[in-house]
Amino acid sequence: MSSAANARVLSGMRPTGRLHLGHYHGVLKNWVALQHEYDCFFFVADWHALTTHYEDPSLIPQSVHEMVIDWLAAGVDPAAAKVFIQSQVPEHAEFHLLLSMITPLGWLERVPSYKDQQEKLKERDLSTYGFLGYPLLQSADILIYKAGLVPVGEDQVAHVELTREVARRFNHLYGRETGFEEKAAEAMNKMGKKNAKLYEGYRKGYQEQGDLEALAAARALLEGQQNLALTDRERLFGYLEGGGLIILPEPRPLLTKASKMPGLDGQKMSKSYNNCLSLRETPAEIERKLRTMPTDTNRVRRTDPGDPARCPVWQFHEVYSNDQVKAWAQEGCKSAGIGCIECKRPVIDAVLQELKPIQERAAEYEAQPDLVRKVIAEGCEAARVTARETMAEVRRVMSLGY
Ligand code: TRP
Ligand code: SF4
Repeated sequence: MSSAANARVLSGMRPTGRLHLGHYHGVLKNWVALQHEYDCFFFVADWHALTTHYEDPSLIPQSVHEMVIDWLAAGVDPAAAKVFIQSQVPEHAEFHLLLSMITPLGWLERVPSYKDQQEKLKERDLSTYGFLGYPLLQSADILIYKAGLVPVGEDQVAHVELTREVARRFNHLYGRETGFEEKAAEAMNKMGKKNAKLYEGYRKGYQEQGDLEALAAARALLEGQQNLALTDRERLFGYLEGGGLIILPEPRPLLTKASKMPGLDGQKMSKSYNNCLSLRETPAEIERKLRTMPTDTNRVRRTDPGDPARCPVWQFHEVYSNDQVKAWAQEGCKSAGIGCIECKRPVIDAVLQELKPIQERAAEYEAQPDLVRKVIAEGCEAARVTARETMAEVRRVMSLGY
C-alpha cells in the first residue's frame, strides 16, 4: 500500500445483460466479499461497450438495467458499495481527454488486447480512435477514484499495468509544485518530532542504500498518521521516493482466480458457447438443463462403469459437493453403482439452493424498476463527489484552474 486511498477498490463490467453462474463464481462473489472490507466502486462500463458496439447501441440501456439487477441480486449492497454507470459521471471523459495528452501512441498500440480483439471481432471495424483508447479510458476510470486495488481477470492485467505507467508519467509531469522540499519539511513537522526523525531515517536508508524495508516502514508510518492532511501525506509519499507530489497513486490488480465454474458441456461457461445457467432462470429450467447435460460419453448404458474425469457433471461436483458426496460420486460412477441422474441430484439441489436467495432478491428488484434506478442515481451522485475532487486537483496541476 502506498497511500491511504489504496483502501479503495474499483471495478467495472461492460453491460452484457443478464449474468450467469460463471459471472457469479468468477466475479460477483468476490465483489460481495470486498464491499465489507474496502470502499468499493462498482460501475457499468457503457462507454466501453460503445467502443465495440457503436453501430447498434440501442440494446445497451436494457442490458445495463438487467445487469445491475443481477449485481444487486447476487448481494452487491448499495449501502456498502457505490453502484453507478460510467457515462453518468462525465468527469471520466474529461479525464480521459487530459490523459490522452500525455499518453504515447505506442503504449496503446502495444496493449495486447488491442490487436487480439481486432483479430477476434473481425466482423466489426475496430480501427477507430475510440477503440485504440479503450485501455486509457479504463485508466481514467481507475485513476479518477484514486483506487488502490482493481479486481480483474487475467485478461485485464495489462490494462492496469498501463494505468500504472500513465499515473507515473502524470505524477512526474505535474507533481512538481514550487517549494516542494519546503512543503515536505513542513508536512514532516506536523507528524511530531519523533515520527519526523523516524521518517527521515527511513528515507535516507531507502534513498542512500536502497533499503526496501526502510521504504516499507516509512510507508507504514505515513499510513498511520491520522492527523496529516491528505495532500501532506501524498507529499511525504512522493518525497520518500525522491519524486514530487504523488497526485495519482498507482493501482494494483487484484487478480481474481479464473472461475472454476464449468458450463453445461464442460467448457468455460460463456454466452457464446450456449452452455450457461443464468442467475434468473426458473428452477424448472435449471433442473431440466442439468438433467439433460452430457455425461461421460463412454457410459452408454446404466451398467457401464464411467470415468468422472471425462464428465462435465464431475466438474460441478468439484464446485458444489463436499468430500463425502464427491467420494460417493467417484465410487458410484466407476463401479456403475449409481446412474447419472442419481449422480446429478446433489448438484441440482446445490445449484437451486445457491440461486434461491439470488432469485428472491432479483424478483424484488424486477418488481421495482424505480428502486433500481434510484440505487443507480444515488451511486452516480456519490461517485461524482469523488470524481469531481480529483478533477479539481487535476485541472489545477495542469494549469486549467481558471
Ligand atoms: N475492460 C473491463 C472488461 O472488459 C471493464 C472495465 C472498464 C474495467 N473500466 C474498468 C474494469 C476499470 C476494471 C476497472 O472487463
Ligand atoms: Fe458423470 Fe456422475 Fe454419470 Fe459418472 S455417474 S458419468 S460422474 S454423471
